[in-house]
Amino acid sequence: MRILIACEFSGTVRNAFSELGHDAWSCDLLPTETEGKHIQGDVLGILNDNWDMMIAHPPCTHLAVSGARWFKDKIKEQAQAIEFFMALINAPIPYIAVENPISIMSTRYRKPDQIIQPWQFGHGETKATCLWLKNLSLLMPTNIVDGRQPRVHMLPPSPDRWKLRSITYKGIANAMAEQWNL
Ligand SMILES: C[S@@+](CC[C@H](N)C(=O)[O-])C[C@H]1O[C@@H](n2cnc3c(N)ncnc32)[C@H](O)[C@@H]1O
Repeated sequence: MRILIACEFSGTVRNAFSELGHDAWSCDLLPTETEGKHIQGDVLGILNDNWDMMIAHPPCTHLAVSGARWFKDKIKEQAQAIEFFMALINAPIPYIAVENPISIMSTRYRKPDQIIQPWQFGHGETKATCLWLKNLSLLMPTNIVDGRQPRVHMLPPSPDRWKLRSITYKGIANAMAEQWNL
């Protein structure tokens, strides 16, 4: 299958699908940080390019409820973030998953199909992750482990902290590739 991993610089989900033999491409404004097929640029320009599946990780800065106290100062940015999310979920692609933390999209679009946690996929951390799915099955836990430390507490301050925090967990990427291996 031809698979687009939208808004991914790490290559984590792309590589999980590539390893299973798919023609998987990541796309991000940033360069990719691991070897693999990557399109650097605006993903909105390639949504019509005949993909079979898309897994998207749009920015959550102006959507996540954890940032609610800033919303009133960021009305324009939030409207753009909602529009971007909706362009992804409404893309002309048969199989779609869009991932975001607990965010206003639960009311502005609809409730997510499921909320997963890294500790269900082999990582002893918490980070509630919502999935909105089109034609894809719910992701089943693969390895429930102990440990309930919030990811936010695991990383020391650094200029790259936001990037490290945003990288998809390998256990979740592997579960997506194995369970959505259509
Ligand atoms: C929350 S991070 C997701 C990181 C991802 N989970 C990973 O493992 O690489 C959101 C990403 O969306 C990218 N992004 C924002 N707007 C974009 C656009 N129009 N087209 C492509 N990527 C975009 C940002 O550069 C950022 O890397």
